[in-house]
Amino acid sequence: QILSDLSMDGIVAYIRKKPCRNIVTMVGAGISTAAGIPDFRSPGTGIYHNLKKYNLPYPQAIFELAYFKEHPEPFYELASDLLPGEYRPTKSHFFIKLLEEKGVLLRHYTQNIDNLERLAGISEEKLIEAHGTFYKSHCLGCQNQYGFEWLKRQINRKRIPHCIHCNALVKPDIIFFGENLPRRFYQKMYSDFVECDLLIIMGSSLEVEPFASLALRPSKMCPRLMINLVPVGDNIEFLFGKSANDRDVLWIGDCDAGCQLLADKLGWGDDLIKLLAT
Ligand code: OAD
Repeated sequence: QILSDLSMDGIVAYIRKKPCRNIVTMVGAGISTAAGIPDFRSPGTGIYHNLKKYNLPYPQAIFELAYFKEHPEPFYELASDLLPGEYRPTKSHFFIKLLEEKGVLLRHYTQNIDNLERLAGISEEKLIEAHGTFYKSHCLGCQNQYGFEWLKRQINRKRIPHCIHCNALVKPDIIFFGENLPRRFYQKMYSDFVECDLLIIMGSSLEVEPFASLALRPSKMCPRLMINLVPVGDNIEFLFGKSANDRDVLWIGDCDAGCQLLADKLGWGDDLIKLLAT
């Protein structure tokens, strides 16, 4: 039996007994909703449910490379609301920072482009920004690079950013559908998931590949804890609710509450509250 109990208590007992040193975290937009940033797919509030004014052929087109090249306007209008800068990290972000401080975080894989991991102090070395970042941009013609301040200026002036050298369209280095994920994602993925001794997944629908399938990579001996508002991951072969389950724990609820509960049970609750106050 890998976990003594298929619950948060079982995970805590496992972390202590092993003891875990190589926790991998995998997150999505759900860890930032408490900061005021909408996720993508939650009914009603998700970005994909609120794009009517753009007259897109389908919601995801706004993040598709081929569509963007022809019609960059919807993306850039939306981008003015998504630009990093005005939001504070949530308790979930600081929980991941706490895992790093306790020396048990191997790597944090995020799909988010809101920069809140960096603001929470998670070090570059621990971080994989799988869907890229707004902090750099490139010209789609001559590849000239632009910084965040330049991009922000264009967006705030309601201009579609064009290259000052060749006048081609400029696109931030966030990963659109139709683009490869950053090299670092693939470089770290193989060894990280061999070493991983606990996987914690939070706030993602696990609908987007190749990110979602990272959850298939840990060994069969590695427990997987999912903290999410709703059950997700039909594509991932989780064992929740199956009689053969000896390693997967589903904790349904708000991820900030889940993180505080886990920290409390580990005896790190006050440390988390202190980090949040910094
Ligand atoms: P989604 O919007 O698809 O999923 C967010 C998940 O988090 C949902 O299952 C929510 O129920 C859950 N959730 C929301 N708030 C929560 C909270 N406070 N506590 C716990 N769970 C919460 O967002 P992602 O999975 O991040 O990619 O979406 C993946 C990718 O799809 C994004 O990176 C983006 C998008 O297209 C690109 O644009 C390339």
